[in-house]
Amino acid sequence: MTILSKLQPLHHPLFTQHKVQVQIKRDDIIHPIISGNKWRKLKYNLAHILQDKNSNGVLSFGGSYSNHIHALAFACYQQKIPCVGIIRGEEDYANNFTLSWAKHWGMALHFVDRKTYRRRHDTDYLLQLKQKFPHYFIVPEGGSNTFAITGVAEIIKELNQQTTFDTLITPTGSGGTLAGLITGDCQSKGSLHKILGVAVLKEAEYLINDIHKLLPNRAKHHNNWTLLTDFHRGGYAKFSQFDANRILEFNHVTEVDFEPVYSGKMILAFLDLLEQGYFSKGERIVLLHTGGMQGIGGMIERGILKADQWGMPKQVNSL
Ligand SMILES: Cc1ncc(COP(=O)(O)O)c(C=O)c1O
Repeated sequence: MTILSKLQPLHHPLFTQHKVQVQIKRDDIIHPIISGNKWRKLKYNLAHILQDKNSNGVLSFGGSYSNHIHALAFACYQQKIPCVGIIRGEEDYANNFTLSWAKHWGMALHFVDRKTYRRRHDTDYLLQLKQKFPHYFIVPEGGSNTFAITGVAEIIKELNQQTTFDTLITPTGSGGTLAGLITGDCQSKGSLHKILGVAVLKEAEYLINDIHKLLPNRAKHHNNWTLLTDFHRGGYAKFSQFDANRILEFNHVTEVDFEPVYSGKMILAFLDLLEQGYFSKGERIVLLHTGGMQGIGGMIERGILKADQWGMPKQVNSL
């Protein structure tokens, strides 16, 4: 199988001190726009749409700074697939960093209020959307469906060719990526790995159920994974100045860039766990970089992060 992303050693004095071996799976650089878990999740979704002669396009959901919406818009632009984004929030957001690019790449943006957005999984609301956008394939928020699981599972196949490891860590939002990794691990021939998901949102225990629902039957009894729910740092996209500085310092030491919403929260959790003595001596750990660097653009725009420290993410008109 083709290896989509490289695996590289990550060096930090704390890793030496705690005697762990750390590598990073660079899914963030698979593609300049469709990066990280987005590539993995969209791969089989788009293949499905492209082979369906009756399909008119794709429709999906997201917040106004959504990495998924941003990546989907570009992927559809490249594949010439019409696409619709149902966006939580007001029309004004159409001019923000994330959505102005999505619009530029041809996504039709439909803004809905929070109450309507909450109905995004309801059968009657989905039926209404199907009537409004006939023969559009509906991809759930974050892209997390069974096609996504198949795509993410391939990360494990790649890793098994690239290295031997004990533990794999990923940031977790909707749970699709974690479910894909569990599935991939369960399908592989070798012994099971320990898979840790760092929940980036508050009160995320409900995700355990969502993850179970996404798992194929044979992976449902695979209990070698843990969702860590104590490292959200106040909630989704919330972090302190201290947290942001710790991520910046880590980026500087390791020469790999992480952002504070997903991959950076995984890093902070990892550093905390190291200090708590969570890992064994000699443990071989792989961190999954799930991308999402475009999100920095919106945070700079809102004054949450400084451009001179984080750098404005580069975007492209075409590739
Ligand atoms: C960059 C990035 N990393 C990680 C995640 C979490 O993935 P999941 O929603 O599959 O748990 C997301 C959200 O989709 C994301 O945008």
